Amino acid sequence: MSDIKLLAGNSNRALSEAIAAYLGLPLAKCQVRRFADMEIFVEIQENVRGLDTFIIQSTSFPANDHLMELLIMTDALRRASARRITAVVPYFGYARQDRKPAPRAPISAKLVANLITRAGVDRVLTLDLHAGQIQGFFDIPTDNLFGAPVMVRDIKERLDLNNVMVISPDVGGVVRARALAKRIDAPLAIVDKRRERAGESEVMNIIGDVAGKSCILVDDIVDSGGTLCNAAEALLAKGAKEVRAYITHGVLSGGAVARIASSKLKELVVTDSIQPTEAVRVAKNIRVISIAPLMGEAIGRTAKEESVSSLFD
Ligand code: R5P
Repeated sequence: MSDIKLLAGNSNRALSEAIAAYLGLPLAKCQVRRFADMEIFVEIQENVRGLDTFIIQSTSFPANDHLMELLIMTDALRRASARRITAVVPYFGYARQDRKPAPRAPISAKLVANLITRAGVDRVLTLDLHAGQIQGFFDIPTDNLFGAPVMVRDIKERLDLNNVMVISPDVGGVVRARALAKRIDAPLAIVDKRRERAGESEVMNIIGDVAGKSCILVDDIVDSGGTLCNAAEALLAKGAKEVRAYITHGVLSGGAVARIASSKLKELVVTDSIQPTEAVRVAKNIRVISIAPLMGEAIGRTAKEESVSSLFD
């Protein structure tokens, strides 16, 4: 792996360092800072000519800045004759507009995929894309890893699986939740949620008998926390014993942490695909598990041209 260079944008320095530690490699010297007017300044301070380069950057809040850092770092590597550039994007932002449900709507996920590709990225490594079809928005090799194996390990270590039921918080998340339920041999229930207006969520029905069950809500994103907290209330109202949630991407914007802290959720587990804020770190019912070994292993295998398929198991 002597011809690998790992580079970190500013979105998630802690995860980048953990991935580098997993691989036993240093992060390349690279400045990503701001001009006085807040334009992004990038300077790669090591030779990358002919090297296999990996930029680790989630396009999380502030998404526009972090996306732009990724694009400019890619441009710098391309002009410095890197042999291959892989964008390692543990959280792929702008993913929620992934189709055109109404006239005059954009498909932001496709636009961002185009931007990343046109900037000069050769391949993408990401995690739990909001919708599977976003993988096809890239016309370059794209590996979409699953957070489920990391979550399943944690669930098996901590919970009694005999009384567990996996819950999809909406109809759209059934495939993801069913996949996790299968891995732990647990039954599945579905919250039939209707969202009347953007940013608001409303729980309607629970499909399945959750009475007396330890429920695990599974989703890709927790943003405002509305979906989760409403689902937890609805499940408890139907007699669930307790409700936890395992969510890959802890977006947790606005008052989400406070909402979750005062909710009936016993615990929310998120990965470090997005760097946890101080509020998340100190929250009593939020715990962060790391995807650094998973991402690190995938980077190492990509560099050695080995299969990554067993990482999906
Ligand atoms: C929706 O399709 C997603 O999978 C999440 O359920 C949603 O983004 C969560 O948003 P919030 O936490 O704001 O309810």
